[in-house]
Amino acid sequence: MTMVLDDVIARESRHVLQTYRRNAVTFVRGQGVRLWDADGREYLDLLSGIGVAALGHAHPALTRAITDQAQTLLHTSNLFYHPYQGQLAERLANLSGLQRAFFCNSGTEAVEACLKFARRYWHTKGEPRAEFIALEESFHGRTFGSLSVTSDAHYRAPFEPLLPTVKFVPVNEPNAIKAAVTRSTAAVIAEPVQGEGGVRPLTPAFAAAIAEACSKTGALLIADEVQSGLGRTGYPFYFAALGLKPHLVAVGKALGGGVPIGATLVSQEVADTITFGDHGSTYGGNLLACRAALCVLDELVGGGLLAQVARVGRHFEQRLKSIASKHAMVRQVRGMGLMWGLEIDRDATPVVPAALQQGVIVNRTAERVVRLLPPLIITEADADEALDRLDAALGAVGAGA
Ligand SMILES: Cc1ncc(COP(=O)(O)O)c(C=O)c1O
Repeated sequence: MTMVLDDVIARESRHVLQTYRRNAVTFVRGQGVRLWDADGREYLDLLSGIGVAALGHAHPALTRAITDQAQTLLHTSNLFYHPYQGQLAERLANLSGLQRAFFCNSGTEAVEACLKFARRYWHTKGEPRAEFIALEESFHGRTFGSLSVTSDAHYRAPFEPLLPTVKFVPVNEPNAIKAAVTRSTAAVIAEPVQGEGGVRPLTPAFAAAIAEACSKTGALLIADEVQSGLGRTGYPFYFAALGLKPHLVAVGKALGGGVPIGATLVSQEVADTITFGDHGSTYGGNLLACRAALCVLDELVGGGLLAQVARVGRHFEQRLKSIASKHAMVRQVRGMGLMWGLEIDRDATPVVPAALQQGVIVNRTAERVVRLLPPLIITEADADEALDRLDAALGAVGAGA
């Protein structure tokens, strides 16, 4: 089977644009929280394809919904009605409190639409505010608008100049945000829990300062829930746990459970400033993607998954903290629900192959952070087994130091 992997790598290295440094593993099958590679080795998945496979792999209901839709009709474009967009928009409105949805295909597109709709809002009002306030350590995606509000120079520098109207503010410093937001600010954009930045939840005091600054100046608030949304933290959306009332919300990743779909949720006040032709997407919210997303929301809300995340999340936290306390290199454990980061005292890169060696999938973000985003269906027993394997991996990395 190593032949298979060698062949896959050789072909990719000739023909695939090399933008990702991949791990040398080929997964060929999944079931629940488990994946199998081409050699038949089993892995426990603590990453979910970077927070996407919320229902795990080969979930029976999702498989049925996708299969049924594929056998019926995949795509007709946004030039025609189909039965599922309205249903999905209604369900997202009930979950978020924002009345309307625009559908796209990814997180960065959802953010891009937030930025455009914010500009459109001020344009319609006849007060063309251009400025966005974003946070340090933020990550909002790779397209030009989303990249412009992403702080890390590593992502930005090769593509500059980006949007010139963005200011960055340090995270969790209430006075800094209050000083930065003015009557020139079109919108403040924030991840309620910063994901790529190292799993950093906003503090309630900082959230309150954002709310105050926005309400004083009229600036819109954009919550980027692409990673933290849809049950990941044990809440439908973490902005609500922080007491925030955003005007726009970006959703992606878990929404389709692996079928690409994103959504921008907007308040009625913002929706009223947007008109036919202002934005669009050929694929956005097609039949297949909407069927998948409806199935994910069925499981999340009707299927009791939200409550399960809150319960298993508490167990996960206890186990993770007890494991972390055994390893001197772990500096901090951050997160909630099933979104966790272990900050270690060094580059976390070697933890990833060490974990794979032990049969568990994790990733490294923000250099020193080992990030865990397991499927939301994970049970206590699977969490224990996966964290035991992570424990062994941390031990191996520590021993090699
Ligand atoms: C908070 C946040 N916003 C936006 C994005 C971009 O999403 P996508 O990669 O689907 O474009 C990500 C991806 O990691 C994210 O974590």
